[in-house]
Amino acid sequence: MAHQDALRRPATDPDPPAPADRLFRLPGVYRPQADTLLLAAAMRREGFTPGTEVLDLCTGSGALALHAARLGARVTAVDISRRAVASARLNTAFARLPVSVRRGDLLSVLRGRAFDALVSNPPYVPAPTDAPSRLGGGRAWDAGPDGRLVLDRICDGAAAALRPGGLLLLVQSHLSGPEATVDRLAGAGIRAAVSDRVTVPFGPVLRGRARWLRAQGLLSHAVEGEDLVVIRGRKG
Ligand SMILES: C[S@@+](CC[C@H](N)C(=O)[O-])C[C@H]1O[C@@H](n2cnc3c(N)ncnc32)[C@H](O)[C@@H]1O
Repeated sequence: MAHQDALRRPATDPDPPAPADRLFRLPGVYRPQADTLLLAAAMRREGFTPGTEVLDLCTGSGALALHAARLGARVTAVDISRRAVASARLNTAFARLPVSVRRGDLLSVLRGRAFDALVSNPPYVPAPTDAPSRLGGGRAWDAGPDGRLVLDRICDGAAAALRPGGLLLLVQSHLSGPEATVDRLAGAGIRAAVSDRVTVPFGPVLRGRARWLRAQGLLSHAVEGEDLVVIRGRKG
């Protein structure tokens, strides 16, 4: 959950997705940030073609779904937030790109459909409360005390949403345990590893939560930034 300043630093992707200020977003919908850009750069390396079917879970404004479509894929995008779905529908319609936007809780709306690739920038920020945030911005980043409320569900469901040999790309913070993601995916039949990493300064959410994170032992005193990582996996 990086600060917007991170976007002014040299991007890892020489040709990033649509700038955040060119995307329509209803209030409370996530503004694409450094995590979005890191995942977008990883997607660019994958060589999506018009036949590639991509699922973007937790699509928000649709930034990554649009990016995948511009890279040539046919895209299905899912978000639980009505406002995010409305924003993503508007953005994809405006761009005239082949993206179907569905509202639902992760994979629940897909009725067992399988894809060639699953990409996701889910909520992953450790939060003092266990209950998933239902309203506003918090729904985009709060993910329970260990930050894994949504990540674990994606790890457990990803294999069913991928065809054999299918690709998984997801982004998270070092604060929510990339090793736990890799281990959980291995248990679900997806061989994965960290493929990309960038260190960004804390944004307002983490600055406001730093004391609590330190009290939980999730953050050492010297650290004032977070590592964002992309986990790349293949279904066996
Ligand atoms: C960090 S934002 C990412 C948005 C976008 N992918 C981007 O990178 O700009 C996470 C998104 O996950 C959505 N979300 C949270 N819980 C969800 C769930 N259980 N199922 C589907 N979407 C969910 C939120 O509404 C939010 O739009």
